[in-house]
Amino acid sequence: MKKLLVALVLSISLTVLWLGSPAIAVDLANGAKVFGANCAACHIGGGNLVNAAKTLKQADLDKNEIASIAAISTQVTNGKNAMPAFSGRLSSEQIADVAAYVLDQAEKGW
Ligand code: HEC
Repeated sequence: MKKLLVALVLSISLTVLWLGSPAIAVDLANGAKVFGANCAACHIGGGNLVNAAKTLKQADLDKNEIASIAAISTQVTNGKNAMPAFSGRLSSEQIADVAAYVLDQAEKGW
């Protein structure tokens, strides 16, 4: 029983440590930087200068079923139609950061 308790406490603290680790936390400030340098040309203010039906506003993200870090990261990595692929230019960490930034801004209404 005591051993079980120790194992339980240990696994809980490991989980807390893992969740709190900065290595896996997304970095919104870095996401903002990546956005300014790579996305703002077409998506300034969360809009879309190329295709007005596909802005980064919450309503469009929901309608186009892209309102998740995974879906946005996939599109940024591979590109889509007139949107270029960023796989060679941005690291997967930068892509996750910019995806989190887009979602955060959409939630706040840009
Ligand atoms: C050259 C212009 C251009 C650049 C630069 C660009 N995009 Fe796009 N983006 C587009 C176009 C065009 C679409 C619509 C693609 C389609 O046909 O589905 C789009 C769509 C999107 C969507 C989906 C929006 C929706 O409502 O469906 C997201 C999210 C997105 N871009 C994020 C980004 C991010 C993040 C970056 C920077 C890493 C970026 N884009 C850079 C042109 C661009």
